[in-house]
Amino acid sequence: MRYKLFGDSGLRVSELALGAMGFGTESGWGADYETSKKIFDLYANAGGNFIDTANIYAAGTSEKFCGDFVSSDRDHFVLATKYSLQDRMNDVHYAGNHRKNMMRSVRESLKRLKTDFIDVLWLHAWDFTTPVEEVMRGLDDLVSRGVVHHVGVSDTPAWIVSQANMLAELRGWTKFVGLQIEYSLIQRAPERDLLPMAKAWGMTVTPWGALGGGALTGKYLRGEKGRLPENSPRLNERNVAIAKLVVEVAESLGATPAQVALKWTMTRDLSVVPIVGSTKPEQLAENLKSLELELPDEAMQKLNAATAIELGFPHDFLQSDAVKNAFGQTQRLISK
Ligand SMILES: NC(=O)c1ccc[n+]([C@@H]2O[C@H](COP(=O)([O-])OP(=O)(O)OC[C@H]3O[C@@H](n4cnc5c(N)ncnc54)[C@H](OP(=O)(O)O)[C@@H]3O)[C@@H](O)[C@H]2O)c1
Repeated sequence: MRYKLFGDSGLRVSELALGAMGFGTESGWGADYETSKKIFDLYANAGGNFIDTANIYAAGTSEKFCGDFVSSDRDHFVLATKYSLQDRMNDVHYAGNHRKNMMRSVRESLKRLKTDFIDVLWLHAWDFTTPVEEVMRGLDDLVSRGVVHHVGVSDTPAWIVSQANMLAELRGWTKFVGLQIEYSLIQRAPERDLLPMAKAWGMTVTPWGALGGGALTGKYLRGEKGRLPENSPRLNERNVAIAKLVVEVAESLGATPAQVALKWTMTRDLSVVPIVGSTKPEQLAENLKSLELELPDEAMQKLNAATAIELGFPHDFLQSDAVKNAFGQTQRLISK
């Protein structure tokens, strides 16, 4: 296992993060305490230090398990949790990005995690309601108090993240150093704006769903069952064709489809630390081996070509010859 700086901070995180959404069975799937502990130990013994949980995962059970698992060596681990999604049904103060919910949620996370600080607090998803200024000021207050060390943002449009970071920079507040997004061979939409935005701000990208929730592991093609229902969009015709290609590429490399799918997300022109989800120790053992896999250019080209998306406006327009010519001949002579 190697380590990366988290965004433009000095925090050192392992090159693969452990997704703890499946710790606890309250959501109707996932691993019980004993199995979760085995998964955690396997990850930690492989050198992994970056644990991703959330207030909402398995109704708080995931945080409780993570708190237990890191308690004997708390400072060794980078414990990341999230706030925003609801802890109580039909209560306006128990969901949202606003300051009141932020402070309440963090207070309760600290109790479940049995710790007095959170290494990385993620805003889980943008609520399109709270002012950006309130969010960034609240997060900065938590950092000033030492309750939170670093902040990241998940599932939020690029223009809002940029607005938030620029505001924080100008005010001397803590900026988002991590971006958590769905990103995989079946979900490349972040290439339009989110990935270039992360690169511009020096953020580390932590993809979730890198295995398409299991769709890219090839198990559904083999008729095996998992947490995805048969009618899941992740198993639609396009995605099944992509999964078949991943199987083919994996076979040609003597690897498994999960390893190919994970490694593909890491082979980007920016800092990427995938969050890998596993509900069985054997799955994690297989996934960890993706770190040793080399994806040759030919395999990358095949995968890229079969999964490419249209970038759309303004990206395609700006790349068109008509626009390039409209900048004049001298544009070609300029480099950075
Ligand atoms: N910020 C967000 O909104 C957000 C959203 C989702 C997740 N996350 C984070 O990202 C992490 C990963 O997300 P995810 O679990 O949705 O995505 P994922 O990593 O694409 O899928 C993980 C699932 O794939 C299956 N799997 C994993 N390894 C396998 C293998 N080697 N062979 C066969 N099947 C395998 C397991 O499903 P089965 O249990 O069915 O076997 C596992 O639960 C979560 O734990 C969480 O920390 C964040």
